[in-house]
Amino acid sequence: MESDIRDAGLAESGAARMEWDARQMPVLHAIKDRFAREQPFRDLRVGVCLHISTKTANLVTAIKAGGAEPIVCASNPLSTQDDVAASLVVHHGIPVFAKRGEDAGTFGRHLHTVLNAQPDILLDDGADLVTTTHQDHRRNLDRIIGGTEETTTGVNRLRSMVREDVLRFPVIAVNESKTKHLFDNRFGTGQSALDGILRATNTLIAGKTVVVCGYGWCGKGVASRASGLGANVIVTEVDPVAALEAAMEGYRVMPMAEAAGFGDLFITVSGNRGVIRREHLETMKDDAILANAGHFDVEIDLEALDSLAVDRRPVRPYVEEFTLSDRRRLYVLGEGRLVNLVAGEGHPAAVMDMSFANQALAAEHLVRHRGDLAPGVHTLPDRIDADIAQLKLESMGISCDRMTTDQEGYLESWT
Ligand SMILES: NC(=O)c1ccc[n+]([C@@H]2O[C@H](COP(=O)([O-])OP(=O)(O)OC[C@H]3O[C@@H](n4cnc5c(N)ncnc54)[C@H](O)[C@@H]3O)[C@@H](O)[C@H]2O)c1
Repeated sequence: MESDIRDAGLAESGAARMEWDARQMPVLHAIKDRFAREQPFRDLRVGVCLHISTKTANLVTAIKAGGAEPIVCASNPLSTQDDVAASLVVHHGIPVFAKRGEDAGTFGRHLHTVLNAQPDILLDDGADLVTTTHQDHRRNLDRIIGGTEETTTGVNRLRSMVREDVLRFPVIAVNESKTKHLFDNRFGTGQSALDGILRATNTLIAGKTVVVCGYGWCGKGVASRASGLGANVIVTEVDPVAALEAAMEGYRVMPMAEAAGFGDLFITVSGNRGVIRREHLETMKDDAILANAGHFDVEIDLEALDSLAVDRRPVRPYVEEFTLSDRRRLYVLGEGRLVNLVAGEGHPAAVMDMSFANQALAAEHLVRHRGDLAPGVHTLPDRIDADIAQLKLESMGISCDRMTTDQEGYLESWT
């Protein structure tokens, strides 16, 4: 079996960490057991482009238990956990093409390797498999049953393809399931972005001014967790409704041009580019720390920072110091890539349990509705959200009320 990983000798460590996380993924586990009995993916090749972490490994083994032949590459060159990649290859016989820190050329080559294997289903995080198929692997278009998309930025790219009428197969926007974005984006990113920043810097959050750029689901989580650790939180936004929400939540809201001079720590989570630009970098305080938790490394203008710097050097793992001509020093974490996955381990498994339950069920939905779903962006039925939430509650030992027949009748009646 061909694969391209850092070191097969790391497999035991990867297996132990996968097992640790599997214990916190009971919903995915229940789905895996059913897949093993029902074999929904028999004889299907599944191309996977996700962050190669312990959680993803548990998803991929669940898909394999369902009869699939998965083939895996990374959705980010710096997020791969090499021991997990090794365990997938050595213990599970799954071809993996990913090495932590791979250069752009290798990253692209790995993506093409997965697509050259002619997958029937694509599991994506950021839409790289789907967009590359439409650009460079068009001969695959007819055989692909469909895809699934994990994140907001990927869904935005897919919607842009729909607007231009170029998307040629159905893709399920997993991010739009409530049991995904309300929990993964908010509580997952909220905790893991701060975790990545703390692991990289060991800085004290209490008393710091933390500027959160973008107050969507991720931004809400990051702002709330930073505030919980004692930060003074400033939010920057371009959407007046989101800005108003942040203001009523008690955060200071102001344009980036103003916030730039106040922040001790900046965290971008907008999914947009150039959120922190030259004019902002020029007014930042000495020792300000810049981190990104949005999907691509384009939120902080690193080219502008490089051109302003007279010196740059690594000072700790995942911390680079930029000295500017006026001797101010700014610190960029994890090369401006997803700080939670680069400097930390990504979201905790307990929250990815729900995201990846959605991924697994979305892949199954594509197969069960093969030929019925039109090309375009689809969402999973509400019933699946309710089922996942119910299973998660049960695993946490929590139950909630059920409506009485009388209450159901009351809510349905207009009189
Ligand atoms: N780090 C992770 O593990 C992780 C997890 C989930 C999502 N993401 C990524 O994080 C990003 C945000 O996701 P989300 O679900 O919160 O999206 P969202 O659409 O809910 O929120 C994004 C917010 O950013 C705002 N925004 C856009 N441009 C801005 C600008 N120039 N300045 C300030 N605010 C701006 C938007 O108005 C919106 O309110 C995406 O790239 C997504 O793919 C990362």
